[in-house]
Amino acid sequence: MPPFTPCFGFSLPLLITCFLTCPWIELVTASAAPLYNHRSCEAAVQEWSNKEKLALNKELKLVQPGSRKILELLFFLHIPRTGGRTYHQCFLKNLYSPNDRCPRSYDKLRLDLRQPSCKLLSSHDDMSILSKIPSRASVVTNLRNPVNRVLSTYEFSVEVAARFLRLKSINSSRSPLPLAKSPSQLVSTLTIWPWKYLVPFMQHDIFTRRDARLEGKVNWPQSTNTTYDAPTITMPLTEFIHHPVAHELVHNGATFQVAGLTNNSCNEDAVMVRKCSSLYPKLGHQVLDVAKRRLDYMLFVGLTEKHQESATIFFSLVADQAQVQSKAMQEILGQNASVPVQEKDPRLLLFAAYKSCLASLRSSHAIRRAATLQLISPVRFSQEERKRIPSAVLEEIVSLNNLDMELHEHAKKLFAKQQRHFTTSTDPQVKQDQTVLSMFLILSISMILLILGLLVALRVRKRVGNDWLPFWLRRLLLLQVHEKL
Ligand SMILES: *[C@@H]1O[C@H](CO)[C@@H](O)[C@H](O)[C@H]1NC(C)=O
Ligand SMILES: *[C@@H]1O[C@H](CO)[C@@H](O)[C@H](O)[C@H]1NC(C)=O
Ligand SMILES: *[C@@H]1O[C@H](CO)[C@@H](O)[C@H](O)[C@H]1NC(C)=O
Ligand SMILES: *[C@@H]1O[C@H](CO)[C@@H](O)[C@H](O)[C@H]1NC(C)=O
Repeated sequence: MPPFTPCFGFSLPLLITCFLTCPWIELVTASAAPLYNHRSCEAAVQEWSNKEKLALNKELKLVQPGSRKILELLFFLHIPRTGGRTYHQCFLKNLYSPNDRCPRSYDKLRLDLRQPSCKLLSSHDDMSILSKIPSRASVVTNLRNPVNRVLSTYEFSVEVAARFLRLKSINSSRSPLPLAKSPSQLVSTLTIWPWKYLVPFMQHDIFTRRDARLEGKVNWPQSTNTTYDAPTITMPLTEFIHHPVAHELVHNGATFQVAGLTNNSCNEDAVMVRKCSSLYPKLGHQVLDVAKRRLDYMLFVGLTEKHQESATIFFSLVADQAQVQSKAMQEILGQNASVPVQEKDPRLLLFAAYKSCLASLRSSHAIRRAATLQLISPVRFSQEERKRIPSAVLEEIVSLNNLDMELHEHAKKLFAKQQRHFTTSTDPQVKQDQTVLSMFLILSISMILLILGLLVALRVRKRVGNDWLPFWLRRLLLLQVHEKL
């Protein structure tokens, strides 16, 4: 079996590129200071942004303006913690047969290009992945309020890390994590960016705190706001948001992912451009501009806050075009008794299947979370607990995510526009009824006009015999004939 191909495969040209750039990359990471001065940063960001705009213009030439058509590949750019996993699990998967889905799009860190003709890619990869794919792609994504996204990232990291407390094989912060070969969910999260980094980081932190607690080494002060500030058990929220790992993987993550500049990017310039844009606010805004333009030209941009409305629009966009797989449909019908079988419209069926799948995913997540949080009691994540986070901390998150805040505002405007475009078609049944009604109206009006026209012609003809054309009209026609001669 051939190994999966990461963005940077071991081909000769790439080896040469690496030969030329690797010493430079090492220089950047080793003694970075002089390379990130304002002048070189300005030049690097400018060069990157020019390249991006050029690429975007080239892509756009191939697309009809305002087109809602899905191109060869549908790329679901899944920004972590925006609720996109349910779109993939409960909806997109039903639209494409396994052969048409890009292999391992979620299970490996990077895209497997063994099947270059695949039609559906859902992953945490950033925009730069498209430069590695020959097919022309339509991109859809989901954005979320950055504060909620950061809180959710923190909670999920702690939750997944805490699951290791149950494993007997790990009894201290020095124990190695289990190998990522096992098919269990616990381990598969460890192969997906950014959890690949965030979970082991949190796991190590939780076990270090537990070691210290067990050995009675430290005496942390007791805090009243125990969930987001429980230093005896987990890294407090305030510590997390200021940690270099959060700067690298979490803050402004949506902007970087849409711009193709994450820590997981295929673009060799990403490290420098990302760092520069964090150092100099003006350069950050240059990156934001590119990200906004990228959003503008996506097939669809949803909002996690408006999950129901987003799903509806997304469905009417995609379900009409992607061939609904009969096999997938059979599965839906076979498995889910809650889906009303009498529904003949595949879109209604898909929507019903989506809702039941969503409900069951949500309830199993909730059960799992509750079981895990018992291991780190009194930490308990909930909407109620979130309300107790001091507003100063929330403001800090806002300022650490200033680019994402603006991108989210931009996405809201785009969403409102899309919503206006789709208002009449929220319910496929309504849409169908409306189409039938308007076709009936057009048909009856044209029939009436036709009958009226015939009646008038007959009457005129009766009155004036064969010379029923008005004199001036005959004159005009004759004149034209003369002119032509
Ligand atoms: C942790 O487990 C290892 C073997 O898995 C064992 O050798 C070690 O003694 C254990 N440590 C503690 C503190 O229980
Ligand atoms: C916890 O409460 C203290 C005082 O009430 C406050 O200073 C601190 O910022 C809080 N921390 C968090 C993470 O909520
Ligand atoms: C991505 O971030 C993680 C965590 O900070 C780091 O270990 C890793 O080396 C980074 N990868 C790249 C390509 O920068
Ligand atoms: C059908 O329902 C089950 C649970 O009842 C759920 O796990 C599954 O994902 C659903 N399948 C589809 C295709 O919606």
